[in-house]
Amino acid sequence: MFDETFWNNRYAGDEYVYGTEPNSFLVEHSHLLAGPVLSLSEGEGRNGVFLATRGLDVLGVDISMVALEKAKALAQSRGVTIKTALADLATYTPEENHFGSVVSIFAHLPSAVRQRLYPLIERSLKPGGTIILESYSDKQLSRDTGGPKDADLLMTVDKIRREFPNLEPVLLREVERDITEGGAHSGLGFVIQFIGRKKG
Ligand SMILES: C[S@@+](CC[C@H](N)C(=O)[O-])C[C@H]1O[C@@H](n2cnc3c(N)ncnc32)[C@H](O)[C@@H]1O
Repeated sequence: MFDETFWNNRYAGDEYVYGTEPNSFLVEHSHLLAGPVLSLSEGEGRNGVFLATRGLDVLGVDISMVALEKAKALAQSRGVTIKTALADLATYTPEENHFGSVVSIFAHLPSAVRQRLYPLIERSLKPGGTIILESYSDKQLSRDTGGPKDADLLMTVDKIRREFPNLEPVLLREVERDITEGGAHSGLGFVIQFIGRKKG
């Protein structure tokens, strides 16, 4: 259901669906991040462009060509560049032992995709590298303020522990917070927030 066509249609208008301002959890912890940065499901570029303005080298991966074109336009308007890769994370293989950081902001993926991808993400980080992830939690199912209505795509603290067994949690919690990002994230929502570090 949430395939390339769904996302290209969602991004087809001129507006930035999740806004052009970066995710606030990412901003708050961005001092922990080092480059190069791999941004999973980058979308229209608000997070990657923010990190590029902080001097980081960013590769944004997304299944939507429409989103990545808007990401490049946003980068240009801010006087920075980001690298992009049009790819389905179900089959994408990131470079091994290469990234200083991985960013995953509202990159809701089916468990079958996560089971293949997340070990590759752990492997793609350099020793000492950091992942920062924010995702709607399964408590968001009954809310209409954002996130997919499919429990398999929503996260829990336990899923993070199980799916990133080799990363040391620097922060791992479920919180309810106000998320207003474009028209698509609109108010109080339950999220999982994770910062994990690869030993080294
Ligand atoms: C909720 S949006 C979040 C976008 C961006 N991270 C942000 O916070 O603004 C989810 C994104 O995941 C992308 N996506 C969904 N499934 C994907 C897949 N299998 N591979 C790569 N990207 C995917 C969509 O195109 C969309 O841009």
